[in-house]
Amino acid sequence: MSNNNVQIFDTTLRDGEQVPGCKLNTEQKLIIAEQLDILGVDVIEAGFPVSSPGDFKSVEAISKIIKNATVCGLTRSVENDIKVAAEALKYAKRPRIHTGIGTSDSHIKYKFKSTQEDILERAFHAVKYAKSFVEDVEFYAEDAGRTDNEYLARVCEAVIKAGATVLNIPDTTGYCLPSEYGAKIKYLKENVKGIDKAILSCHCHNDLGLATANSIEGVINGARQIECTINGIGERAGNTALEEVVMILKQHPYLNLDTRIKTEMLYGISQLVSESMGIYTQPNKAIVGANAFAHSSGIHQDGVIKKRETYEIIDPKDVGVTESAIVLTARSGRAALAYRAKNLGYELTKLQLDDIYTSFLDFADNKKQVDDDDIHQIIEHSKLYKEIISS
Ligand code: KIV
Ligand code: ZN
Repeated sequence: MSNNNVQIFDTTLRDGEQVPGCKLNTEQKLIIAEQLDILGVDVIEAGFPVSSPGDFKSVEAISKIIKNATVCGLTRSVENDIKVAAEALKYAKRPRIHTGIGTSDSHIKYKFKSTQEDILERAFHAVKYAKSFVEDVEFYAEDAGRTDNEYLARVCEAVIKAGATVLNIPDTTGYCLPSEYGAKIKYLKENVKGIDKAILSCHCHNDLGLATANSIEGVINGARQIECTINGIGERAGNTALEEVVMILKQHPYLNLDTRIKTEMLYGISQLVSESMGIYTQPNKAIVGANAFAHSSGIHQDGVIKKRETYEIIDPKDVGVTESAIVLTARSGRAALAYRAKNLGYELTKLQLDDIYTSFLDFADNKKQVDDDDIHQIIEHSKLYKEIISS
C-alpha cells in the first residue's frame, strides 16, 4: 500500500447507528454493507457484537457476504467482548477486532475509578488477547482528544508491543481544535517507539462542527486512516462525514493523499442511508444535500450558465448528481429563465424573453420556486405565445 493512501474506515453501521431511534435491521445493514464494499471503503465496522444478539447476527451476516473490505467488530477491553467479536467475525475474509479503553483523566478517574498504570496494563492485555484470534487488531484510546499526549504515547507504545496494527485516536467528545488534533497526531508520529509498525487513525466527533477539519488535519500530520460515516450521522452531533473527507482529498490533489472511493456513488449511498434510517439530510449538507449543486441567485446563475466552475468547485457528476440545478425564484435573472425555457424547448428571442420575464417575476413573487409546469403556463399565457412556438 502506498504511503499516500488514506484508508477509509466506515462506521455507519456501528457509531453511525447510535443515532437515537434509527436502529437498522440485519437486512438493511446487509444492503448498506454491500454498497459500502462496492463504494470502495477499506474497512466496514459492522457493529458491537457483544452488545446484543441482533448486533452479533448482523456482524456475522456481514462477515459472510463482504468480498473486499476488512470487516471489523468493536469491543471493550474485556475478554468476553473480544471472544464474542472473534466468533461473530469468523466468516470474514479479512477480520479486524477493534478494542480499546478510555485514557483521559476523566475516564480513568470517574468511569474506571482506576489509575494510569492499570489502564495501560488492561490495554496491553486486551490487544494481546485479541491477537490470539485475529492478526489485524485496532486499538482505540477513548477520549484521546482530551488525553495528555505523553501518557497517550505510552499507551500507544504498549499496544504496539502487544501487536496492534492500527492506533485509533478518537476525539470522542468533539472538543479539539484542528491545530490541536493535528499536533497530537504529529506528536505521536514523532514520539512513539515502533510507530512505523502501525497506522494512526482519526476518529473525530462533530460536537463543535470540527470533525471533518480535524480528520483532515490528522492525515496532513501523518495519520493514514479516517473513521467516518455516510452523511456524518452518529451520536449527538455525529461523526466525520465520509463524503466530505473523500472529496476534500480529491479536490486538493497537492496534498498527495488518495482514497479508493468511487466518488460517483456518494450521492446514491447517501440517499440509501438516509432512507433506511429515516433521517432527513439537511438541504445545505456539503456534497450530498439537495441544494449542494443548486443555484438560485441571479448573479450566480448567470455565472454558472456561462461557465459552471465560476460558482462550483466540484463537478456534480463526480459525486453522482446528474447536473447542477438552476432554481427559479424571484431573485433569478433573465439568463436563468432563458436557460430553463430552452431546456423545455423554447428558444426565446430578446424581446420574447423581456415579455416572459415580466410575467415570470409577478409569478415568482407569489411562489417560492417556479417549476417546469409554471414556465409552460407563463409562456402559454404570453401574448407572444404563437410567435414563440412558431419560431
Ligand atoms: O468516539 C469514540 O471514542 C468511539 C470509540 C468506541 C472508538 O467511538
Ligand atoms: Zn465515536
